[in-house]
Amino acid sequence: MESKSIIQPVYRIAHISDTHISPEYNRQNIAKLKNLLTYITDEGYDHVVITGDIAGHGEERDFRSVRRLLKSFGLLEYEKLSVTIGNHDIFGGVHRAEDLFSFGKHCQTTVYNRKLDLFERTFKETFPQKAYAGEKLFPFVKIVGPLALVGINSIREFHPFLNPFGSNGKVSDEQLESVEKILSHPSLDKLKKVVLIHHHFSKYQPHAESLINKFYHSFESRTLKLHGKKRVEETFKRCGVEVVMHGHTHVEEVYENSGIIYSSTALNTVKAKSDSKEDNLTGQLKFNEISISNDGGVEIKKRRVNIPQKGNSSRTFDRKVFVK
Ligand SMILES: [Fe+2]
Ligand SMILES: [Fe+2]
Repeated sequence: MESKSIIQPVYRIAHISDTHISPEYNRQNIAKLKNLLTYITDEGYDHVVITGDIAGHGEERDFRSVRRLLKSFGLLEYEKLSVTIGNHDIFGGVHRAEDLFSFGKHCQTTVYNRKLDLFERTFKETFPQKAYAGEKLFPFVKIVGPLALVGINSIREFHPFLNPFGSNGKVSDEQLESVEKILSHPSLDKLKKVVLIHHHFSKYQPHAESLINKFYHSFESRTLKLHGKKRVEETFKRCGVEVVMHGHTHVEEVYENSGIIYSSTALNTVKAKSDSKEDNLTGQLKFNEISISNDGGVEIKKRRVNIPQKGNSSRTFDRKVFVK
């Protein structure tokens, strides 16, 4: 059953992440995202955020497919959608067990800046006209409704030891300095400061049930870290960031750390170890709903939408609420 909001929302964001769209490997994700966006647009959310790993393999055809889908929902607009980049958008990922051994080589030969350009071109309508840091897209700032949304690129370049599979993160010093300058600007004083970043700030403890998920996550967990996480968090704290939206872990969770609320979700989630009592049905689509009230209150709900079955269009919803 759908629940009533505890606060009176004036602005509602639907936070989606890790859609891993790939016509070659993940066709089912296209159908899932279509269903989720149908629900989100029907419900009239003010804004949609996707926090990276939007494409499955970072290929042109993946991004073409994403663009087509977002366009068909009228979402390719500055006011309606904000996105940030994930490791799969640059390096892709392992989709078959036999690719595991060649994946390091694939990451090594990936031209990082070319993929960054492709990402920027794909979502160009949603980005500010003028990038903050000269030619570079990240970090960007967007003012939508009562929010200042800051998009950060946390994808570390390939390194044979520090980032052999492309999935470790780092926010460059240059980017962090720009974030600090942006967020300290007095024009943002009355706005709620919200960061969009792919990497996580929680302890990564998924509880994967299927063998393939276990295999995948034991591989990924070794290489999922955000290097220099503490420094990034301290910058957020100093600058008055109130909400951070991220993905990457595929764990659906909302947590608080030093006064900042973190919203984490994924199209296909894995169960968090600490959430052993929560059901995690694969037939449900997940996203987080972030509501902002007139007096600046924030409420985050973990939303679940049942995938409509043939001949049955009814949907039910679950929720977990976090209020500040
Ligand atoms: Fe992902
Ligand atoms: Fe990721």
